[in-house]
Amino acid sequence: MDQKVAVFRKEHFNAAHRLFCADWSDDKNKQVFGACSNPNYHGHNYELVVQVNGVPDPITGFVVNTKDLSTIVEEEVKRRFDHKNLNLDTDFFKQLNPTAENIAIVIYNLIRPRISETLDLKIRLYETERNFVDYPA
Ligand code: NI
Repeated sequence: MDQKVAVFRKEHFNAAHRLFCADWSDDKNKQVFGACSNPNYHGHNYELVVQVNGVPDPITGFVVNTKDLSTIVEEEVKRRFDHKNLNLDTDFFKQLNPTAENIAIVIYNLIRPRISETLDLKIRLYETERNFVDYPA
């Protein structure tokens, strides 16, 4: 069989962040980033959807074991980001704005080495119910 199936695992984490450019005034940051530029930070309830595409294993029938996927997300993502300040408590966003776009790329790079090279990985990250990103595009 060479029929690919997409498998999804939904996870959740809470984190604080601030979007800003250090070279800009508070006014300009507010203009560009809105409430997300609040100097004292603010939180989001992030919904993370990890998608793995591949051909089901002939023995197990699994593309990927979702229990293993959950463990990977716990170890690589939630332990680092859940209930953390993304700007201050992690090294990833010291120089990089913690937008949904950049967080999705960072999460992809953390998870990718843990997934078989024969499988495709996609990350969907909801910052709010209405705003979400996919990586790779
Ligand atoms: Ni925000």
